[in-house]
Amino acid sequence: MVSQVSTEERDAVGRPLPVFPEPAPLSSHGPARVIAMCNQKGGVGKTTTTINLAAALAEYGRRVLVVDFDPQGAASVGLGVSPHELDRTVYNLLMERDASIHELIRETPVPGLDLLPANIDLSAAEVQLVGEVARESVLSRVLRPVLDDYDVIFVDCQPSLGLLTVNALTAAHGVLIPLACEFFALRGVALLVETIEKVRDRLNPRLHVDGILATMYDPRTLHAREVIHRVNEAFGDTLLHTVIGRTVKFPDATVAAEPITTYAPAHAGAIAYRQLARELVARGDAA
Ligand SMILES: Nc1ncnc2c1ncn2[C@@H]1O[C@H](COP(=O)(O)OP(=O)(O)O)[C@@H](O)[C@H]1O
Ligand SMILES: [Mg+2]
Repeated sequence: MVSQVSTEERDAVGRPLPVFPEPAPLSSHGPARVIAMCNQKGGVGKTTTTINLAAALAEYGRRVLVVDFDPQGAASVGLGVSPHELDRTVYNLLMERDASIHELIRETPVPGLDLLPANIDLSAAEVQLVGEVARESVLSRVLRPVLDDYDVIFVDCQPSLGLLTVNALTAAHGVLIPLACEFFALRGVALLVETIEKVRDRLNPRLHVDGILATMYDPRTLHAREVIHRVNEAFGDTLLHTVIGRTVKFPDATVAAEPITTYAPAHAGAIAYRQLARELVARGDAA
C-alpha cells in the first residue's frame, strides 16, 4: 500500500498550516481590542512585533494605535519619533488629570497607524502611580476616550512585571507573548503566566492569552528547533503558527525608523508579520 502523502503545508513544529485569508475590509472602525505585548525578558521581539504587526494590520485597512509603554521609547523611535523632541508623552497622560489623549497621539508615516509616544519620563510613573487610587487601572481609564477610534490598540510593555505592565494587562483584552528561540526562552514564562492569571482574577476577568509568538527563529540550528518544539509541548495551540525568522533586516528597519513592511515590503520578515496579522484576524483576536 502506498501511504498518503500530504501536500499540505506545515508550520515550524509540523502542524498543518491553515490558510489565513486576506481580512475583509472594514466599513466602520472600533471599538478597539487592546492587546498587551508582554514578556519581562528584554530583547525577545516585543517592540519589533508591536511595530510590524501594527503596520501589517494598518496595511489591511485597520485603524491601529501603538501605545509605547516602555521608558526606553523604542517603539516611538522605531516609528520615527525621536524621544528628546518629545515634550509631552504617555507619562503626562497617566499623571495629569486634565491631560488630553487626543493632543498626545501622533500620526506615523504609515497610513492608519498612530502612536502614543513615551520617553524616559515614564520611568518615574512606576513609583508615582503607587500612591494613586485604582493605580492598576490608570491606563485603562486614559485610553477609554479613543477606544472607538481604533480597531486594535497595542501596548508595548517594558521588560518587567511591575506596575506599568500590570496597568497594560488591566487595560487589555488580550496578551501576546513573544518568545525568542534561544537558550532560557522558557525561563520566566511561568512567572509571566502567573502574573497574567493574577490580573485576570483580581482586576480584569476578560484577559485572554492570545498567543505565544516564536521570534528570532533560525531553522538551521538544532537548538532553535528544540526550543520551539518544547514551547509546542508546553503550550499547544497557544503557540501561534506564524514564526518570525531571525534576520538583520529588523535592526536595519529600526535604524531607518520604519516598519519592515515599508522598509523592505517583499522581505520574508514583512511577509511573516503580514501572516501574523491574518492569523490573529482569523483567530478572532483582531478585527
Ligand atoms: N526576528 C528578529 N531577527 C533578528 N533581530 C531581531 C528580530 N526581532 C527583533 N530583533 C532585534 O533584536 C533586538 C531586540 O528586539 P526588540 O523588539 O527591541 O525586543 P524587546 O522589545 O522585547 O526588548 C532589536 O535590536 C531588534 O531589532
Ligand atoms: Mg521593547
